[in-house]
Amino acid sequence: MSLSLNPTSFSFFLFSLYFLSLPVGTSSLPVVGITYTHDPRHDHDHTPPSHVASTVHSLKLSAVRLPESDPSVVRDFSYSNISLLLNIPNSLIPAIASNRSNALRWLYHHVIPFYPRSKVSTISVGNDILDTSSDLADFLLPAIRNVHLGLRDLGIQKISVSTTFSFINIMTTSFPPSAAEFQEPVSELLIKPLLQFLDDTNSSFLVNLYPYNVYRLNSEIPIGFALFQQHPFNYRDDLTTGVRYRNLFDMMVDSVISAMAVAGHESIPVIVTETGWPSSGDASEIDASPAYAEMYINGLVTHLSSGLGTPLRREGVAETYIYELFDRETRQGTDSGRHWGIMYPNMTRKYNIPFSGSVRTGYSRGWVRMVGGLFTIVALWLLQ
Ligand SMILES: *[C@@H]1O[C@H](CO)[C@@H](O)[C@H](O)[C@H]1NC(C)=O
Ligand SMILES: *[C@@H]1O[C@H](CO)[C@@H](O)[C@H](O)[C@H]1NC(C)=O
Ligand SMILES: *[C@@H]1O[C@H](CO)[C@@H](O)[C@H](O)[C@H]1NC(C)=O
Ligand SMILES: *[C@@H]1O[C@H](CO)[C@@H](O)[C@H](O)[C@H]1NC(C)=O
Repeated sequence: MSLSLNPTSFSFFLFSLYFLSLPVGTSSLPVVGITYTHDPRHDHDHTPPSHVASTVHSLKLSAVRLPESDPSVVRDFSYSNISLLLNIPNSLIPAIASNRSNALRWLYHHVIPFYPRSKVSTISVGNDILDTSSDLADFLLPAIRNVHLGLRDLGIQKISVSTTFSFINIMTTSFPPSAAEFQEPVSELLIKPLLQFLDDTNSSFLVNLYPYNVYRLNSEIPIGFALFQQHPFNYRDDLTTGVRYRNLFDMMVDSVISAMAVAGHESIPVIVTETGWPSSGDASEIDASPAYAEMYINGLVTHLSSGLGTPLRREGVAETYIYELFDRETRQGTDSGRHWGIMYPNMTRKYNIPFSGSVRTGYSRGWVRMVGGLFTIVALWLLQ
């Protein structure tokens, strides 16, 4: 073998590897945010919306998703430096699709009075329409285009426009990820043209992604694999790509990334708009417990801030929004609802989870890459 490494070039190579890996690791950690649903019925005895921005700030979360996008809540995030993901309700999609002036009207109420003091980053036109409103599918892309053109008319370039799907309603499978595709017929009719739009406008693919639901549907999945627990048997190998998965979240994200690649758009950023684990559910949901919920959210935040990305995408997801900020209470006394909040309605924290938010832990990625590089070099060295 002609390859020879003397100790000097070896150290130099190591040094450059270390040096090169640091800036990347510190700049591209995924944003960790949270979903907040404003429930006006509870304002008088629970969190007033005006306290939500400071609550989110104190949790060190840097982004909030507002499914209702109440203008007063958008205003409350002025000067907070917390980025906002807004949502246009499914019911407005036909009107917005039919006439751009309806898109402009929505923007005049929800964005223009507050932007850019409120840091709106993304607008999702509709949420999971395939679940409850699949009759709206034909209106979706025209509505998305009208919101995009409306923003352009207003001279706003920095807000991207997309829509939100639910993993379960669009994917054929989650294992192995390399075999995942988008379901037909929505893939041809809706998702492929959407991906083209997202590519053309530098926007992101938004997906609600719950390992909790996939775990419940597949009894062979070990609970630890869904909860980010390190255990010798908590892995799945994708034999086609040769990569090993150590948690269900990565496997689901990579399924989406594979399906996008099959559709010819492999580099669109992915935003996980909802993910979480309930602390309680109905009698059949034995895995909806505070201990598991805390393990899931803790594991998720730790995993995201490790900067390791997923096996198929080194930078991983661009943003992840935990579902959700507050438990919601059912007034009728029938507690059928699951509780997903990380806080009680009285603003007490349910779990002790250090959200990385402003804390940048990019060193770990650089460090892992350096160790990986070191193994490669030692292996090459031994081969000589
Ligand atoms: C606002 O947030 C961005 C990114 O989240 C950060 O880079 C910037 O330093 C923050 N600015 C202030 C004034 O906190
Ligand atoms: C769109 O709405 C505007 C304002 O309501 C109206 O003047 C215009 O005629 C509408 N255009 C179409 C094509 O319906
Ligand atoms: C998308 O991003 C690229 C690279 O940052 C830029 O050159 C291009 O102009 C952007 N396109 C749009 C439509 O914003
Ligand atoms: C908030 O509510 C939770 C659950 O109902 C309760 O356990 C906790 O003691 C309350 N905290 C305060 C400060 O009232």
